[in-house]
Amino acid sequence: MTDVAANSDSLTVRDNRTGQEYDIPITDGTINAKDLGQIRTDENTPGLATYDPGFVNTASCRSAVTYIDGDKGILEYRGYPIEQLAEKSNFLEVAYLLIHGALPTKAEYDSWVHEITYHTFVHENVKSFMEGFRYDAHPMGMLMASVGALSTFYPDARNIGDADNRHMQIVRMIAKMPTLGAWSFRHAQGKPFVYPDNDLGYTANFLSMLFKMSEKKFEADERLVKALDVLFILHADHGQNASTNAVRSVGSTQVDPYSAVAAGVGALFGPLHGGANEAVLRMLRRIGSTSEIPAFIEGVKDGNEKLMGFGHRVYKNYDPRAKIIKKSAEDVFEVTGTNPLLDIAKELEKIALEDEYFVKRKLYPNVDFYSGLIYEAFQFPPEMFTVLFAIGRTPGWLAQWLELVQDKDQKIARPKQIYTGDRELTFTPSSERWS
Ligand code: CMC
Repeated sequence: MTDVAANSDSLTVRDNRTGQEYDIPITDGTINAKDLGQIRTDENTPGLATYDPGFVNTASCRSAVTYIDGDKGILEYRGYPIEQLAEKSNFLEVAYLLIHGALPTKAEYDSWVHEITYHTFVHENVKSFMEGFRYDAHPMGMLMASVGALSTFYPDARNIGDADNRHMQIVRMIAKMPTLGAWSFRHAQGKPFVYPDNDLGYTANFLSMLFKMSEKKFEADERLVKALDVLFILHADHGQNASTNAVRSVGSTQVDPYSAVAAGVGALFGPLHGGANEAVLRMLRRIGSTSEIPAFIEGVKDGNEKLMGFGHRVYKNYDPRAKIIKKSAEDVFEVTGTNPLLDIAKELEKIALEDEYFVKRKLYPNVDFYSGLIYEAFQFPPEMFTVLFAIGRTPGWLAQWLELVQDKDQKIARPKQIYTGDRELTFTPSSERWS
């Protein structure tokens, strides 16, 4: 029994099985799960543990990357509010901030942009590897496989204990993700892969690799470049979400960062994580016109379906990213011409925000409510939506990976289980069982 009773920052637990009391220290609003291990009925039984499927109330790490206050609708990267970063920064500067923990000086920024720009090319064998996929391969599957494949091109990446080496892999991955993402897109269209253009900025170059045909230089509209850059910023990190947790969990084995990020891409592929914006588009199409909204809302309230793009596990006030995205959607439509689905989305939002059902349950638009509309305006097919998310999330995954590998508290991720199966059965060989 720990003697911290005098300390008010502690939890006193009485085990009714034994009548014994324990004082467990509280630090940063948490108790250390290991401290529960001392609570046991006798020497021979395992200590008390917690059961928390989906980690809904368990901190798996200490992190200084992203702060989220779901009740107040706050999202900050390294302490800087997302609204300011989206308005006044750019994706590469935000990536620097996430990775290094502070904003760059002019010299640091220039060198960072130079490094990223000059690592956008991939080995020609990566190209032939990607050409080997079936004609209809999902671009997210291609991205996941090709990021993982990079580990075979850079075997030195396994040397994760060396700071310079880690930096090299981080630069390579942030630089090459748009190349791999764009080529995954071109493959499905049967179009030739477009090599990076180092005269262009990060996001403009990505658009060039996606859409360039026979023209000498692809010049995207600056407003579109800015809108996509903002989307990348908004997706750059989000605390311990499912894909970041996957990166950390795989990274905890001390594998190279390409393998860890490939696991993150896999987690993001799942419809519960990266796929909701596509569902929003399908929903808006099904509603078809603003006059059908009231009937649709009634259906949602009757529990027949969900209003996709609304609600969030963490944000119970509003998702700060949704506000920024709504503005971006308007900017994009100024260039591409409006999409009638935007009118349906805005009217739907207006009605839902006034409706008691949604107000009472604290359901507000989330990041996915408008992002699918923007992506569609860029003429991305829905399968590309999660690829775009993955490119934006890469600096976040890497910042979290970097934090993990330098955190002395971290160990290989190995949750406990509550075993519910049989015990001590006697095995009979098949020759006897089947005779
Ligand atoms: N439409 C209608 N009702 C909803 C919705 C919705 N979109 N979301 C939640 N509710 C209701 C839910 O039925 C429940 O009602 P009741 O109390 O009567 O049973 C109440 O609101 C609380 O919902 P919950 O399911 O306990 O909330 P959760 O925190 O477990 O789920 C969520 C969060 C995002 C999974 C859910 O809101 C949802 O399914 N939304 C639609 C899908 C979506 O837009 N997902 C994208 C999330 S943002 C992506 C990201 O950040 O990466």
